[in-house]
Amino acid sequence: MPPLPAKSVPEMSVDGDEPPPQYIVKECNFAPLDLSTASGPFPIPIIDISLFSESASANSSKKEAADEALEQLRSALISAGCFQAVGHGMSSSFLDKVREVARQFFALPLEEKQKYARAENESEGFGSDTVVSDKQVLDWSNRLTLQVFPEERRRLNLWPKTPNEFGETLHEYGLKVRSAMALMYKAMARSLNLEENSFLGQMGDNSLNEVRMNFYPPCSRPDLVLGLKPHTDRSAMTVLLQDSEVESLQMLIDDKWVKVPIVKDALVVNLGDQMEIMSNGVFKSPLHRVVSNSGKLRVSLAFLSEPEPEKEIGPVDALVDEHRPRGYKNVKSYGSLNYTCYQKGMVAIDMVKM
Ligand code: SIN
Ligand code: FE2
Repeated sequence: MPPLPAKSVPEMSVDGDEPPPQYIVKECNFAPLDLSTASGPFPIPIIDISLFSESASANSSKKEAADEALEQLRSALISAGCFQAVGHGMSSSFLDKVREVARQFFALPLEEKQKYARAENESEGFGSDTVVSDKQVLDWSNRLTLQVFPEERRRLNLWPKTPNEFGETLHEYGLKVRSAMALMYKAMARSLNLEENSFLGQMGDNSLNEVRMNFYPPCSRPDLVLGLKPHTDRSAMTVLLQDSEVESLQMLIDDKWVKVPIVKDALVVNLGDQMEIMSNGVFKSPLHRVVSNSGKLRVSLAFLSEPEPEKEIGPVDALVDEHRPRGYKNVKSYGSLNYTCYQKGMVAIDMVKM
């Protein structure tokens, strides 16, 4: 494997360096390159998820709006695999605080952040993308990955002590996102006329939640470099808190990259491969990427939901019939497939298709 660049991405960013060759994007076999011509913003629907709560369903005056929201949800997940959620119950000021603790952590001197460095062959901690192949194009970003739930799996030595509200803010945010996710899993099942625990039951009571805080410093060559390479999420569902100003996330929809607009206080919900599997391909796990920009730094927080580690997941029986034969094998520990697949230049879900 060629030596990694000596300087970190934030250092190169501050010095305005020309990105080294390892960062220059190349054509890959599962997504178009097309760095400059993203269309959009794509009108992914904005859905009020409070309409999915039990109290809303019991309220006859909200019935029509709730049915409409459920239909919007079904149609968004079938076509694009993503939507923007409002009505999640978190205030603007709380969401700003969550972004702010992430921003403050990434603003620390590198030596300070290195105290939480990801060890080799580990997924948690601070670092850049894991390098698995000498052909891999590197991302112009840093990230901090932490297991948040179940609480007993937390590796608190990797949770930053600075800023000092980091831990409590992430804990509170995690609880709120986890409960919004439970509501959405149930609504997703109902939208397909399934029993409401069809997906949540497969996840298990001790399903996992990991947070990935992403830091994208400015880059002198946004025409050549990506903040985050094209990928689908290995999760069942991901809730993304976008930066409040810098719009850089793109989804591949109908083979075209489209911008995901910033909608104030909305959370971007995108499905991951494990939901595509459980829904037997009815719902999509969209390819997405983050472009770089020369002006401002960007911070985002991706909160991933995955089944209990020992649980096998597979297509829900009611979604398999002669018109839609079973499209995916049952699978356990799906996450570990990802790295192997990057090496082969493919997306992981191709490995579990029938
Ligand atoms: C991700 O896909 O993990 C992050 C996306 C983003 O930063 O907007
Ligand atoms: Fe992602």
